[in-house]
Amino acid sequence: MSSVVEVTQDGSVRVLSIDNPPVNGLGAAVRSALAEELTKALQDEGVEAIVLAGKGKFFCAGADIREFGKEPPPDTPHLPDVIDALEASTKPVVAAIQGVAAGGGLELALGCHGRVATADARVGLPEVTLGIIPGAGGTQRLPRLIGVAAALDIIVAGKLVPAPKAEKLGYVDQVVTNNANVIDAAKDYARAIVAGDKPFRRASEGTVEAEATVFDDVKTRIAKKARGFEAPYAAIDAVRASVELPIKEGFAREREIFVGLVDSVQAQAQRHVFFAERAIAKIPDVPKDTPAKEIRRVGVVGCGTMGGGIAMSFVNAGFPVSVLESNEEYLDRGLEKIRGLYASSVSKGRLSQEDMDQRMGRLQGTLEASELADADLVVEAVFEEMDVKKDIFRRLDEICKDDTILATNTSTLDVNEIANATKRPELVIGTHFFSPANIMKLMENVRGEKTSKETIATIMKLSKQLGKVGVLVGVCDGFVGNRMLYAYRQQADFLLEEGALPRQVDKALFDFGLPMGPFAMMDLAGLDIGWAIRKRQAPTRPKELRYSPIPDRICEMGRFGQKTGAGWYRYEEGSRTPVPDPEIEALVVEVSKELGFERREISDEEIVERCMFPLINEGAKILEEGIALRPGDIDIVWIYGYGFPRYRGGPMFYADTVGIDKIHETMVRLYKEQGEWMKPAPLLTQLAKEGKSFKDYAS
Ligand code: CAA
Repeated sequence: MSSVVEVTQDGSVRVLSIDNPPVNGLGAAVRSALAEELTKALQDEGVEAIVLAGKGKFFCAGADIREFGKEPPPDTPHLPDVIDALEASTKPVVAAIQGVAAGGGLELALGCHGRVATADARVGLPEVTLGIIPGAGGTQRLPRLIGVAAALDIIVAGKLVPAPKAEKLGYVDQVVTNNANVIDAAKDYARAIVAGDKPFRRASEGTVEAEATVFDDVKTRIAKKARGFEAPYAAIDAVRASVELPIKEGFAREREIFVGLVDSVQAQAQRHVFFAERAIAKIPDVPKDTPAKEIRRVGVVGCGTMGGGIAMSFVNAGFPVSVLESNEEYLDRGLEKIRGLYASSVSKGRLSQEDMDQRMGRLQGTLEASELADADLVVEAVFEEMDVKKDIFRRLDEICKDDTILATNTSTLDVNEIANATKRPELVIGTHFFSPANIMKLMENVRGEKTSKETIATIMKLSKQLGKVGVLVGVCDGFVGNRMLYAYRQQADFLLEEGALPRQVDKALFDFGLPMGPFAMMDLAGLDIGWAIRKRQAPTRPKELRYSPIPDRICEMGRFGQKTGAGWYRYEEGSRTPVPDPEIEALVVEVSKELGFERREISDEEIVERCMFPLINEGAKILEEGIALRPGDIDIVWIYGYGFPRYRGGPMFYADTVGIDKIHETMVRLYKEQGEWMKPAPLLTQLAKEGKSFKDYAS
C-alpha cells in the first residue's frame, strides 16, 4: 500500500482513496501511486470494478499548485496520462465525490466511467482563476458529456458547481443524500456497471457539435469581467478544439494551450494571489489557536453612508444589529436608504422579499446609546474628526459591558489615540471598511499598540464570517491602501501640470487594468472630503513640497464630482458616465502656464510608471515599517479595495515583474525632481542593490 493512496477491498470492488492532506492535491507522489494501484487492480483477477475516492473533507482539489512553474518540471507520470489510463481501464472505475472535486480533481473524475457525489459537494474547473486552463482533458471531455454551451459556462467562469446542478447538467451521474455513504453508493454504482445495469461510458468517446456563434457569444458576454485576462479566452479556444478536432488532437491542443499559459506572468500572478489570499490569515504572533470571542450582537454608531453599509454587512451575515444615530431625522434617512437598497435588490431578483424582511427584522435603529450596552462588538462609523471619535469611545467605554470590543471605521486617524481614550485599549481595534461597505470585500483591520491577540483573532475571524477579506495592518496615516493611494493620486495631478489631460491619465490606467482612472475615481468618491482635509493640513504643509492647486481650483468652482453633476468631468442628468469637459481641460492648461510648465507629450507608459512606481515605493515603506506583514498582504488590499487587476498580482507582485531596479531608478529621478517625499524607500534601494525582489523579501 502506498502512503498517499489507501487501498481497500469490498468483495470484488477495489477502493483507491487519495490520502494527501489538506486537499488531496495531485502531486507527483499521488499521480504515480494512482497509476501503480490502477495497474495492480487491473491485473488482479479478484477485482471487477474500482472506486476512486478521497480521504478527509475533499475528494480532490486538483493539481498541486505549488508544483507549477518549478524547475525541474514535475516528475512523471503526468496527470493526463494517469487519467487516460483510468479511462481506458477495462474494469469500470467510479468516482466517489465528497466536498470538492476541482480542476484536475474533476478531470480525474471525468476520466472515470461514473460519478457519484454527495449533495453538498461542489464540482468544477476553476483553472482560469489561476491564469491557466484545465490541462488534463477537462476541455475535451466535459463538452462531450454536457454540450459545448454548458461546458463553456463552467470552464470560462471557473466556478465550482453544486453537485445537484451538475447532475442535472449530466456530469455527475448520481447524487446521494448527505448522510449516506458516498463510497458505498459508488461501489453499488460500479457493481451496476459490471452487471450491465448502468452504462460503461467513456467521456472522451463520440463527437460534439456547436452553433458557430456560441464561442463569440461567450466572448461578448465575458468582455467586461474578463478584460485583460488571458485564460478565459484561451479556455474558449480549447473548448473549440473539442468541436473541431478528433479527441487525440483535441487533447494535444488543450495541452499546448495549457503549457503556453502555465509559466505566463498572468498565471504566476494569479497563483501568487491564491496563496496571498490564504496567507493573510497567518499572523506570526497570533497563532491559529488563539481564542476568539463569540460575537452575537453588534452595535453600529452612525447610520450615514459608511455606518449604513457596515450595518448591512452584519445583517446580511445573520447578526442582529442596533444602529445608533444622534437624531431622528438622520436615523430615519439612514434606515430608509438601507430599505431602498434591499428593495432594489428585490426588484432586480437578487434577493427574495422574505430575505429582505428577515434582514430588516435583524436591524434596529436607536437614538439611545444605552441600547448598545449588551453588544459584543460596536463599530463606530461617524465622520473623521478625532475629538468626536474620542468622545464616542469614552461614552461607549462607560456604557458597554466590560468585554465589548470597540472598533473604529476610521480611514486615517490614529487608532492608538482613540484606544487610549478608553480604559480598555486592548479591546479597541480599527475595522476600516471600504465604500460601499455592504459590497466591497476588503476590511483593513488595524491593530493598535495595545490591541490584544484575542481581539485580533476575533476580528480576523469575523471578517470571514461577514464574507469579507480581512487584512491585518498597523497604525499610520491612511493605513495601507489610502496611504499608497495618496502617492498615486498626487502624481496624477502633477502629470496634468506637465502636459496630460484627465481623460488621458484615466485611459492609461484603465488600460493598465484598473476599473477606472484616478480622476473618474475621485468624481465617484466626491472631491469635497479631500478638499476639507487639505485645507486643514495647509498651515503645516512644508512649503518646499510640490503641491498641485488644480484639485482645489475645481472644488472652488463648486464641482464635487458625480454628486454635483460635475467634477473632473461633466455628468449628464442621471448618468454616471464621465464626459470630458473643455472647461476643466482649459483650467489644466492655464495652471500649467501659471506654474511655468512647458506642456509636453506624455506617453501612456510614462503615466503608468509615474503613478504606479511612487505607489509601490510607498508600499515598500509600509513593509519596512511593519505596517503590513507581507508584500502579498498589500497586494490583497489593492485587489479587493481598489480593483487592482488580479492578473497583475497586486502592486508589489507587479513591481517584481517590472524589475525593482527600474522602479528604483525612476524613484531616484523623481526624488531629485520632486523632493523629500519621493525619496526611495530604503528597502527598495536595498533590494535594487542586491538584485532582489519583494518575493525574496517575503521568503
Ligand atoms: N494545490 C496546492 N495547495 C492547495 C491546493 C492545490 N490545488 N488547494 C488548496 N491548497 C492549500 C491551500 O493553499 C491551503 O494551504 P495552507 O493551509 O497552507 O494555507 C490549504 O490547502 C487549504 O486550502 P483552503 O484554505 O483554500 O481551504 P478551504 O477549505 O477554504 O477550501 C478548496 C478548499 C475549495 C479546495 C480550495 O482550497 C480551492 O479552491 N483550492 C484550489 C482548487 C483549484 O483551483 N484547483 C485547480 C488546480 S489547477 C489544476 O488542477 C490544473 C489541471 O488541470 C491539472
